[in-house]
Amino acid sequence: MTFLIEKLDVAGLDTNSDALADILHAAVQAGARVGFIWPFSREDARAFFTGKVRDGVAGGRRVLFAASVDGRVVGTVQLDMDLPPNQTHRADVSKLLVHPDARRQGLARKLMIALEDEARARGLALVVLDTRTGDAAEPLYSGLGYETAGQIPHFALAPEGDRMDATTYMFKRL
Ligand SMILES: CC(C)(COP(=O)(O)OP(=O)(O)OC[C@H]1O[C@@H](n2cnc3c(N)ncnc32)[C@H](O)[C@@H]1OP(=O)(O)O)[C@@H](O)C(=O)NCCC(=O)NCCS
Repeated sequence: MTFLIEKLDVAGLDTNSDALADILHAAVQAGARVGFIWPFSREDARAFFTGKVRDGVAGGRRVLFAASVDGRVVGTVQLDMDLPPNQTHRADVSKLLVHPDARRQGLARKLMIALEDEARARGLALVVLDTRTGDAAEPLYSGLGYETAGQIPHFALAPEGDRMDATTYMFKRL
């Protein structure tokens, strides 16, 4: 198997918008807590990438990464630098997603390492993220050296819409 991590510019996003939409749609359908609630259609997923994400990439405020296995895009993450003027030394990690068919092959770890390399190359000193407390992503981030800042109860509605989930804020000094 051939693994590839690459940055997507606007043209790359447009070319891969179907695959990116598939990843987000499949992840949310499988219960991922990444900002969306059910019902969540494939068109909703596509609109996220072709709207907000595309604008951010075009404006230089977001770096979009894609992970491929044997030429199929199955994972993604974003380095989000759309932050206030007093926080230009840091970035947020946004929408780390691996298609349910492609998990536990190390793709999320590879994506995060590429994101951190990009942040360092840009002179950033701090990356921040939050993840639903207890999710699979928490040990992933801990294993990459992220420290836990704390937890906030009742932070977000679960995608099923039936309860509120806590979130864990984590950070890493680069
Ligand atoms: C979280 C997610 C991105 C992990 O993607 P992945 O490519 O399967 O992760 P990796 O294969 O790189 O896993 C790296 C390490 O993370 C941890 N990990 C990943 N998935 C895990 C799981 N389901 N349970 C426990 N630990 C897990 C393990 O330590 C793993 O190392 P190992 O396989 O050697 O044990 C993926 O499950 C996903 O897309 N989930 C839904 C979206 C989401 O929650 N994103 C995070 C938002 S903050």
